[in-house]
Amino acid sequence: MVDLSEEVQKIFAPGKGLLAADESDNSADTKRLAPYGIEIGPEMRQKFRDMLLAAPGIEEYLSGVILYSETLEQSANDGTPFAELLRKKGIIPGIKVDEGLEPFPDSEKETITKGLIGLPERLNGFYTKYHTSFTKWRAAITIEGDQLPTAQALVENAKRLAMYAFEAQNAGMVPIVEPEVLLDGNHSRLRAREVITKMMHVLVGALEDHSVDLSGVIIKSSMALSGKESGRTDTPEEVAEDTLGALQEAVPKTIGGIVFLSGGQIPDQAIDNLRAICKVARTKPAPWPLTFSYARAFQEEALAIWKGLPENLPAAREAMLARLKSASEALSG
Ligand code: G3H
Repeated sequence: MVDLSEEVQKIFAPGKGLLAADESDNSADTKRLAPYGIEIGPEMRQKFRDMLLAAPGIEEYLSGVILYSETLEQSANDGTPFAELLRKKGIIPGIKVDEGLEPFPDSEKETITKGLIGLPERLNGFYTKYHTSFTKWRAAITIEGDQLPTAQALVENAKRLAMYAFEAQNAGMVPIVEPEVLLDGNHSRLRAREVITKMMHVLVGALEDHSVDLSGVIIKSSMALSGKESGRTDTPEEVAEDTLGALQEAVPKTIGGIVFLSGGQIPDQAIDNLRAICKVARTKPAPWPLTFSYARAFQEEALAIWKGLPENLPAAREAMLARLKSASEALSG
């Protein structure tokens, strides 16, 4: 029987956090490769993942990487399967197990997450074949004035996150439950704080209802930020206060830990806000360990430098490593 809290502790190893490299094939093509003028398709996706995962030195800052199923079937340029390569570096491989978003029938501007059908079999497959130790499921929560999110969308997404978390623990893996409160829109930071608080309340209730062991769960949270179209940039102190305020209000101390997503913030902002959160979390002690689980904030500069060309690989990796290092340093506030 796997000790899930032990696995959680490994993820929160001092100075370390997660790289989210779990873009689906389609997202990798359309959101990572194509915008930088890089050819799309499985071959370039393999090269993109090699750029990230085979970068020397990432193990200094990363305890784990969240992968996508295609990545488990792929190998680094030297022929080592990606999951094995990570294990060799002392990095824990995790796997995204949801199957993306679909419209929520009760409210057409909102989404729910697919992937519960056949989930236990898929989880067992990942665990036995690739030795993944943790998993992730993402829900997306839209803010629009006071109308969205609807209570129904929060409840349905929370229920699915909890059902997934139960199955992941059953299969011997730590679930990362991610109710991402989206940055899109012109809402205020306080509205984001309110929505994060509500979502976390509903989520924790659902986890309890589904008999999930809270100490073996990691929550992946958004930061409380003003919407992208609000014209406002929050100070790191404001973000820290409202993010921790929301989490302190709704997340019990028994939860294994909390990781943050970058959510489309520019890399400097994502790191400055993380630093402020960790600083406040030490002075007004937060009961759970905290760390990063970023995709865009770690990858964007590297992709812009790399452009899919082998001669740019060292500089691209150097840029990513610099970001990982600052995120790691930010954890000490
Ligand atoms: O689901 C979202 C990823 O896990 C985190 O991505 O840091 O680009 O928001 P992000």
